[in-house]
Amino acid sequence: MMRRLITVSIVLALVGGAAFWWLTRPDRIDAAALGSHTPNAENGRIVFFASGCASCHVTEGLTDRTRLGGGHGLRSPFGTFYAPNISPHAERGIGRWTEADFVTAMVKGTSPAGDHYYPAFPYTSYQRMTVPDIRDLFAYLKTLPADETANRPHDVGFPFNVRRGLGLWKLAFLDGQPFRPDPARSAEWNRGAYLVEGPGHCAECHSTRDWTGAIAADRRYAGGPNPDGRGWVPNITPHRDGLAEWEAGDIAAFLSDGLTPTGDSTGGTMAAVIRNTSQLPDADRAAMAAYLKSLPQRAGRRPPRS
Ligand code: HEC
Ligand code: HEC
Repeated sequence: MMRRLITVSIVLALVGGAAFWWLTRPDRIDAAALGSHTPNAENGRIVFFASGCASCHVTEGLTDRTRLGGGHGLRSPFGTFYAPNISPHAERGIGRWTEADFVTAMVKGTSPAGDHYYPAFPYTSYQRMTVPDIRDLFAYLKTLPADETANRPHDVGFPFNVRRGLGLWKLAFLDGQPFRPDPARSAEWNRGAYLVEGPGHCAECHSTRDWTGAIAADRRYAGGPNPDGRGWVPNITPHRDGLAEWEAGDIAAFLSDGLTPTGDSTGGTMAAVIRNTSQLPDADRAAMAAYLKSLPQRAGRRPPRS
């Protein structure tokens, strides 16, 4: 009887382990699936600023946003993640990566060695980017200086330090869907929706997250506690707690100079976002503003009184 029980337990553990292994297998994009493309590094530069890579990857302590040696710490309820070196340095950065490695990291959240990345790298938004934009971005990154900063290991405890387990998280929250334009809307609206939802990853900060660390759909853009634990991120839907009083032109101007309609200058992590959006063409900032004004009004949690 005992022996049978043990055998059954072992079989169940093996089946469970195999199911876990199967369900959490990392997904890749093959070079063959990419097809031909003539990279446009100038578009890559716009994509770079639209997607804010420098906000996290700039070499810690430097202000030159083209030095991507990493080292910046991102606090989260799961521990502190340190942005790695993504400069073209051959050993310390991503100088040896192929285009397919890069596209895979951006849309599948998988490393060249086949490990899952933590969603602190906002690939849940970047998966909406077009593959040509990602390839142009890769071409632009290659033009930046190599930086020799060594990667700092993340400070994340068990069980979150087991990357394989992230496969289950991805199964639930990485839908693999590209951005789909809405033909019923204007070209401007669609450009704005693409920039905000994809490269701009605005929802990653401006939403409340649930206990799994995923964005709660009914709180998307409705603000919430800052993911890094300091302060509150405002509601940017047209709700009265959000941008109801802002004209589209006010939002576009804010994305250029960081000044609110009442003349306050923005602070915290948004200041770094403005350093990127200020580099975009006017038409892109206007498009983002038009999209934000069209969002459904959502009430968020109210910030605690200070
Ligand atoms: C909110 C912060 C943040 C932003 C913005 C961000 N990243 Fe990252 N990125 C990270 C973190 C944290 C990691 C480490 C993830 C891990 O170890 O699982 C990472 C990992 C990576 C890696 C893997 C590097 C390696 O050595 O394996 C690449 C490539 C990368 N990011 C590129 C980019 C690009 C390109 C952009 C802009 C489009 C970008 N990241 C924007 C935080 C960020
Ligand atoms: C890294 C986190 C982060 C990201 C990404 C981010 N924001 Fe913000 N945003 C903030 C924080 C924090 C504030 C509040 C700053 C302050 O208190 O001065 C803010 C403020 C704002 C405001 C002013 C709201 C108000 O009521 O004063 C607007 C508008 C805004 N963000 C739009 C955007 C857009 C559009 C994007 C995407 C391009 C974006 N944000 C991406 C963190 C972020």
